[in-house]
Amino acid sequence: MKISESCIFTIFGATGDLTKRKLIPALFTLHGQNRLPEDFFIVAVGRRDKSNESYMGEMKNFIENELKKTINERDWETFRKRVVYKNIDFNKDEGYEELQKAYSEMDPGRKTKGNRMYYLAVAPEFFEMIIKKLYEHRMLDNKDSWQRVMIEKPFGSDLETAWRLNQSISKMLPEDKIFRIDHYLGKEMIQNILSLRFGNSIFEPIWNEKYIDNVQIVSSETLGVGSRGRYYDKTGIVRDMLQSHILQMLSLIAMEPPASLGPEAIRDEKVKVLKNIRLYDGSDPGKNIVRGQYGEGFTEGAGAPGYRQEEGIPPDSETETFIALKTRIDNRRWRGVPFYIFAGKRLHKKATCVIIYFKDKTVPMFPGSAGHIQQNVLVIRIQPEEGVFFRINAKKPGDGFNFGPVDMNYCHSCLYEDNSPEAYEKLIMGAVNNDASLFTRWDELELSWRFIESIDRMASEGRRDYPNYATGTKGPTEAYEMIERDGRAWWHEKEGKNENI
Ligand code: BG6
Repeated sequence: MKISESCIFTIFGATGDLTKRKLIPALFTLHGQNRLPEDFFIVAVGRRDKSNESYMGEMKNFIENELKKTINERDWETFRKRVVYKNIDFNKDEGYEELQKAYSEMDPGRKTKGNRMYYLAVAPEFFEMIIKKLYEHRMLDNKDSWQRVMIEKPFGSDLETAWRLNQSISKMLPEDKIFRIDHYLGKEMIQNILSLRFGNSIFEPIWNEKYIDNVQIVSSETLGVGSRGRYYDKTGIVRDMLQSHILQMLSLIAMEPPASLGPEAIRDEKVKVLKNIRLYDGSDPGKNIVRGQYGEGFTEGAGAPGYRQEEGIPPDSETETFIALKTRIDNRRWRGVPFYIFAGKRLHKKATCVIIYFKDKTVPMFPGSAGHIQQNVLVIRIQPEEGVFFRINAKKPGDGFNFGPVDMNYCHSCLYEDNSPEAYEKLIMGAVNNDASLFTRWDELELSWRFIESIDRMASEGRRDYPNYATGTKGPTEAYEMIERDGRAWWHEKEGKNENI
């Protein structure tokens, strides 16, 4: 896929972490792969005074030394010509006049025709203000061309603030010009959920309560909050991961087949899942939510501080860095099937996966097989390894029917090696090509906040004195007790020692 239309791509927040870690590298890769049209210019807007040269030098340095990627010098030289750094105060009206001047200088022949992508890689409190200024300066409504806005997460901090933000910006921008980012939607294996489910006739007939025992969504990170303490302490794992990435995974796993692969058809089905997700109403206290915060410990062989000792975190912070919960989707397909979620920072292992445990429906015809036939299980490995794992039972060599589990392991990244594009490359291409399927529609977001609000209502649920798990461990013991009470176990606990997984 290529970007088909010329445009000027403006990044607000050009000196921020996201821009150097993800956006500039993604744009550079697209450039190196000839996926950008000739007239595609990038204006990097930051509030620090620096020359174009020093800005691009910093970006290059970061890609080479921090991201450890080799840069093709010739590609970088041509890429550099597409980018201009502008020290602009986006709080001030003059800033927008300067920006328009920069556009005319970059594209004097108006080859980009007025097509503009504005990427808001800034702190959420600036989203509304920047859009308002763009609107007031008539930078969003050029009739002969398109103008779109890409907005990073978090979109609001709860249902009310998200609703207010949306109300305000939708007066200036129609929904189809707003591209709300959830970078998980650009991940290769997240997109593969749809291919797996609907591109294989064997799965759909058994993808329901009759055959599925439980679904687990695990997002285990080894990293802590790093330098993002101030942001994270206001956010916590529920808002940082669950409201966005995890609910997106859950919707894709649980949705009905969409009428087509069009963005609206897919998003309509995801919305239906979120409408049916069971809200917490306090009727089952102490059972379905476990919260946690990491204390000091060891990661990658070295000592690491606890959450409360991280930069920017108050020493008595009650913010959660871990959550495990059980929820359900109240529709016919999923009646009675628990969906377990396990997510945390500073755990023992980096792994994001979705696990589908099937019910044991085998006919009891094999003498002595009791206890040897294992549940079939399908694991969609999102990262760091990308792939699919499927466990079946098969006969062991020799007389009689002795069963043993056989693991079928498909390694997506091994098969396609470096061809798997980074999420941000796909998101940028999607938005510029006006494909909204990788972005969150307002109603999805609204419903996800409704679910989060129900968790907030149970604020004291599953909480005990923090910290309640040490860095580098498997998380709070209560998370394991929660699933054990249902006679089940987390996949990573059961298979923790299996190196092949
Ligand atoms: C971000 C969160 O959206 O996703 C981070 O703000 C989190 O806290 C990150 O670490 C995880 O993304 P990935 O792509 O590394 O799984």
